[in-house]
Amino acid sequence: MNMKFKALTGLAIVSVSALILGSCTANADSPGLEYMPDMYRSPAIEPYVDYGEIRGRINEDVKLQQSALTPPAGTVPYFGKDSETVSLMLPYFRKANIAFRETHGLYGVDLTTSDEYTAAAADLNPYKLTADNAEGMFKKGKELYTAMCQHCHGEKGDGNGPMVVSGAYAGVPNYKDRSALGDGQMFYSIYYGKGAMGSHASQLTKKEIWTLVHYVRKFQNADYGKFDASGAMTATAAVPADTTKN
Ligand code: HEC
Repeated sequence: MNMKFKALTGLAIVSVSALILGSCTANADSPGLEYMPDMYRSPAIEPYVDYGEIRGRINEDVKLQQSALTPPAGTVPYFGKDSETVSLMLPYFRKANIAFRETHGLYGVDLTTSDEYTAAAADLNPYKLTADNAEGMFKKGKELYTAMCQHCHGEKGDGNGPMVVSGAYAGVPNYKDRSALGDGQMFYSIYYGKGAMGSHASQLTKKEIWTLVHYVRKFQNADYGKFDASGAMTATAAVPADTTKN
């Protein structure tokens, strides 16, 4: 009995020592034998691309494939904290015309046969321009316009962007010739596209598009966005009367 116990204790001591010594390596930077490697170093999981590798093992089936799933149609993205951004996140209530399928490739989008573009003339810009936010609005508008629109529409909004000047593109209007457009029509055209202009629905948020609508108004009338002491907008010409009220 005593002998058996001694032998067992001896065996236990030898195996524990072997395990402890075996965990050591000569490399001072090596963590040695890891029993639960995931607890020390979690495998990198990247949302948009899967390298298919977990600790040296490669899974060819998922290698270099997008691992994040496309959100279901109609999903409402929700981000930001300011009420203006959040209130503009709900889906745009006007549908594109059925013709946009052929003209602008809007397949898989809810379409309509009614003339929503004409109806949109009555929609006012829900992102209100005030004496307080005008400077920031035009600064943001310029930023977006420079990145997304200027190459076609031109720095001055006259339709002579580098794409047009180079001869690669034609038919871009001078904004001044479209002063009669309602805010909602501009939104509709930027959102779904019009003629040779593509849809910007996937590149810009609705708040950004409404910001651009204010910015385009400024090309149509340099006084747009100037306010008098009482806080009323001074510009009237070339701006639909009711834009100043909303
Ligand atoms: C690829 C070139 C191109 C780009 C980029 C582009 N546009 Fe256009 N845009 C056009 C053309 C062409 C038209 C004329 C469409 C028509 O009336 O057939 C147009 C028309 C418009 C109109 C008048 C729409 C109407 O209902 O008559 C507005 C407003 C406008 N663009 C704003 C923008 C803004 C803002 C951007 C940037 C987000 C932008 N565009 C980007 C080419 C472009």
